[in-house]
Amino acid sequence: MNNKPVGLLKSVRAVQKNALAVIPEIALQQPIVSGVTGRRWHMIMDPGAMRQILLDNVGNYPKSLATRNVLLPAIGRSMFVAEGAHWRWQRRAVAPVFSPRNIRNLSPIMSQAARHSVDRIATAGRAAVDLHDEMAKATFEVISDVTFTGNDGLDRDMVHRALERYLDTGAKMTVLDMINAPTWVPRYHRAIAAHELKYLKAQADRVINARKTEPSADMASDLLDLLVHSKDPETDRGMTTDELRDNLLTFILAGHETTALALSWALYLLANHPQYQERAIEEAKAQLNGRIAEEADLPQLPFIRQVIDETMRLYPPAAIVSRTALEGDVICGRQIRKGDTMILPLYALHRSRLLWQDPDLFIPERFENPKSIDRFAYIPFIDGPRVCIGAQFAINEAVIILASIMTRFRFRPVAGKVPEPVMVLTLRPEGGVWLTVAPV
Ligand code: HEM
Repeated sequence: MNNKPVGLLKSVRAVQKNALAVIPEIALQQPIVSGVTGRRWHMIMDPGAMRQILLDNVGNYPKSLATRNVLLPAIGRSMFVAEGAHWRWQRRAVAPVFSPRNIRNLSPIMSQAARHSVDRIATAGRAAVDLHDEMAKATFEVISDVTFTGNDGLDRDMVHRALERYLDTGAKMTVLDMINAPTWVPRYHRAIAAHELKYLKAQADRVINARKTEPSADMASDLLDLLVHSKDPETDRGMTTDELRDNLLTFILAGHETTALALSWALYLLANHPQYQERAIEEAKAQLNGRIAEEADLPQLPFIRQVIDETMRLYPPAAIVSRTALEGDVICGRQIRKGDTMILPLYALHRSRLLWQDPDLFIPERFENPKSIDRFAYIPFIDGPRVCIGAQFAINEAVIILASIMTRFRFRPVAGKVPEPVMVLTLRPEGGVWLTVAPV
């Protein structure tokens, strides 16, 4: 097996346009690929090595310097970026929001967003709709309702637009930073990003300050209240306004775009695989008969769940994550040195020729028996202590929204409109997911 280190495979410009270009073809056939571009880096596509980095030796692999550098201006004081004891107390503080019981309590918010989405799709008649845009609206509604249950006087449309523009522009350098390549993000992009970020921070500060003086009526389910009232058990201190704001923005950023992507890629795949689309429609109709899905319906929608799982295998919304080695280690027989960047390309792991049969094909039944799949071969939410805190929340939300849509509509691809998977911070369908809609 040729396991020699490789250089940077595609040009920096290609990578800036689409970070997926950084993953070399051979990553699909090797457990580890290493290279040097200023800094030593290793791409990991092996479940055992993933386990070592994310679980067994997790203390040696904090979030990468590149992740920290890129996220610092936006959410630098949030739990997404924090490490050690500082991370632990913040994670514990918000854990009650994501307990199974509270996720159940939050499900009416998901059903309501599904209803609004179905109503909007219905008005399209038989015209083509950009389902990526539509799913972004639906998941933004969910996360903003979960974050602020009260009426905080926030212009949600403005916040949503600012967020989209920020993600479009500000986040471009991440993967280039990971491999320590020069970043040529045009200056005007950075200026737009800075402007949007300033607006988002000001909005968040306004909501936080209002909430500090006037708590919301519904303490149990409001994320902002939990954050405002959380205390570090070791020092007994609460979060500073900076920490509150950065965590608030983290939840909105991490919780909205990712779930929207899982849903829009799922609709794209279903539209292009009519046999699976019919099966999804059949299941949704049998259980829902045209109504909106609720939490109690989830166990009766196993195929819709498999569609979501298989979609995130092919198009993991967070397609590449990274870590930095604190000390030397040996991974897949290769020497890792202190300071090396560990690139975890979930996109390549999920399509590895060594792990999957027909890796590029959409086959939802693979997930009929999830226990048959190696725990660290499929990690759209990663795994170990830094696993996505919103994983179950996101799955429930995605199944509720997808089932509510499939009991009402059938989709067809639009000729000439094939979205290209483009990775910025997340794996987006460039050009949108344009599909024609018809009632079932
Ligand atoms: C399909 C949807 C989602 C996907 C694929 C996803 C994926 C991920 C991944 C891969 C990470 C780890 C990143 C890293 O370690 O570098 C992560 C972390 C995180 N996610 Fe998600 N996520 C999703 C939805 C959500 C939702 C709905 C929320 C909140 C409502 C959320 C909040 C977070 C937070 C706060 C972290 C940081 C956790 C920590 O560091 O302790 N995510 N997510």
